[in-house]
Amino acid sequence: MLDFHSHILPEIDDGAQSVEESISMLKMLKEQGVSTVALTSHYIAMDESPDEFLENRKAAFDKLSVEIEKSGEDFPELLLGAEVYYYPGISKMEELSSLTLEGTNLLLLEMPMAPWGEYALREIDELIYTSSITVVFAHIERYFKYLKKGTIERLLDMGALIQVNASFFFSRHTKKKALKMFKEGKIHFIGSDCHNTQHRPPRINEAIDALKEKFSSESIDEFFENQKNYMNS
Ligand SMILES: [Fe+2]
Repeated sequence: MLDFHSHILPEIDDGAQSVEESISMLKMLKEQGVSTVALTSHYIAMDESPDEFLENRKAAFDKLSVEIEKSGEDFPELLLGAEVYYYPGISKMEELSSLTLEGTNLLLLEMPMAPWGEYALREIDELIYTSSITVVFAHIERYFKYLKKGTIERLLDMGALIQVNASFFFSRHTKKKALKMFKEGKIHFIGSDCHNTQHRPPRINEAIDALKEKFSSESIDEFFENQKNYMNS
């Protein structure tokens, strides 16, 4: 099982504030049955260049790797990535493809918490059409109140993919909608979006429990199996 969205790398964003916390989060994910974790630290172009980010990310990853090695334990496979914050003109950023998830063309894109303008939608459409990058919209459920009717379908028509947070499935108010979207094939990735062990811990297992109430193990397995195709294409 893959966790597509996490803030586990230590001391790089508002996620893990120490390498010990990173290790604790990884242990929690392992116990929840997660075998692969995408490390998607925040990237905000206004704050740093892609090169600076990649350098900081490498330092954080090296620190974590030393600790993993020292522990002598098995941990989930780790993939380096980023949660890239959208800004108008992002498609012109030359280094954008260096921010895709390791071994894939998938770019986890975080949109502003505001109505998405036509400019943004057209820019992302063009980015997908003219580059090898596949955009994955991060935690789409956060934006429902900003999106016009039919926007999700429009994103899917563009060839974009959709990630939701685990909480979308287990929150009482959103569970029904999450299960409906899952059934309709409008969700491609689930992420814990974990930031720490206390207030925003990994709870991917609770999303799976919610899915199991409605879907067979075979269809849940198939969902995770399908992810390999998105990651390889
Ligand atoms: Fe995030």
